[in-house]
Amino acid sequence: MTSSPERIYLDNAATSWPKPEAVYQAVDRYQRSCGASSGRGVYSHAIESQQLVDQCRRSLATLLGASDPARVIFTSSGTDALNLAIQGILAPGDHVIASDADHNSVLRPLRMLEGRGLALSIIPLADGRIDLEKLERSVRPSTKLVCVNHASNVTGLVQPLSEIAAICQRTGALLLVDAAQSLGHLPIDVAALGCDLLASPGHKGLWGPLGTGLLYVGDRVSELLRPLRYGGTGSRSVEETMPTELPDRLEAGNLNLPGIAGLGAGVREVLQVGVAAIAKQEQQLRAELIAGLSSIAGVQLYGAHPGAAAVGVVSLNVEGIDPLELASLLDANFGMQVRAGLHCAPRMHLSLGTAPTGTVRLSVSHFTTSSQVASAVEAIRSIAEAMAG
Ligand SMILES: Cc1ncc(COP(=O)(O)O)c(C=O)c1O
Repeated sequence: MTSSPERIYLDNAATSWPKPEAVYQAVDRYQRSCGASSGRGVYSHAIESQQLVDQCRRSLATLLGASDPARVIFTSSGTDALNLAIQGILAPGDHVIASDADHNSVLRPLRMLEGRGLALSIIPLADGRIDLEKLERSVRPSTKLVCVNHASNVTGLVQPLSEIAAICQRTGALLLVDAAQSLGHLPIDVAALGCDLLASPGHKGLWGPLGTGLLYVGDRVSELLRPLRYGGTGSRSVEETMPTELPDRLEAGNLNLPGIAGLGAGVREVLQVGVAAIAKQEQQLRAELIAGLSSIAGVQLYGAHPGAAAVGVVSLNVEGIDPLELASLLDANFGMQVRAGLHCAPRMHLSLGTAPTGTVRLSVSHFTTSSQVASAVEAIRSIAEAMAG
């Protein structure tokens, strides 16, 4: 029997794996010995559940630099958080600005609302980045919201968030940050930034389980944001309308306690390691990938500008082979697990010239090693050499 190659997981931009041991233990512990819903009971295990929720919310607030943990809303994913932000704040007649960097979890809700009378401008990128002058020129008196994909899930390139936030402050537009690829990977301080809404999965850079996400709600929107879902909150149960206070107004239904138990443990680990240290290490791994891959004939890299602000995501193509086929070969022959295709970011690929087939994307995490990166480079080298014949 032939043994399978060691698994080299380089799809952390989809969801991070492995998780820290503490995350597995927290989920297991909650499921086995607690198991109660939060916010709805007075018995000891229900109180323990509520404590897990409160602790996780506090850790997330610390990570984000938010003074009030009630401004952190639990969601089921990054997509769920983006939908809550977009559908909760925009109304027909509003104008919104997005960019070619945006993911379908921003573009699709915006397109849906466009069909109901929203005015939408999608600005192009210049060399992977939002052109600040173009952004400022696109702002209209009716501009309600600017959506920014902080770090690209295709190229890893990071947008100049402080400058974009300053434009929003100057013009009165609200700022929604899609931090799916940046929270936990780069230091972010929502208060210093003046960010109104920040959406993130809990299962990528925060090391929580799938099924978790969050939306940070800033001062300017805390009373405006409408719920996406209506229902029981365990609070003010005599009233048939949603409570007005946060987080309950935006969190109808039982929370995902197994997920939140794991997310809480994940965020505590992130805080303990330190986001600055994680950023440094992931940027080093990205640099090693780029250095290795750029030495291979037939490999084309996208957005791999030396020294550019970026997270640990690299996109490439190998001449003569379709990205999906390349990804299958990498898994079958080298145990290397990567994502191929458009990565739910169709406009980004039009912008890069890689539509309709897309790219192969390699994405590292804090748990990726330099030796795995070296093996990944050698695997791609061997396929590129075979393709060159
Ligand atoms: C930039 C970006 N935004 C949003 C999302 C959606 O997050 P989730 O998978 O948690 O729904 C992703 C996920 O890949 C992403 O990369």
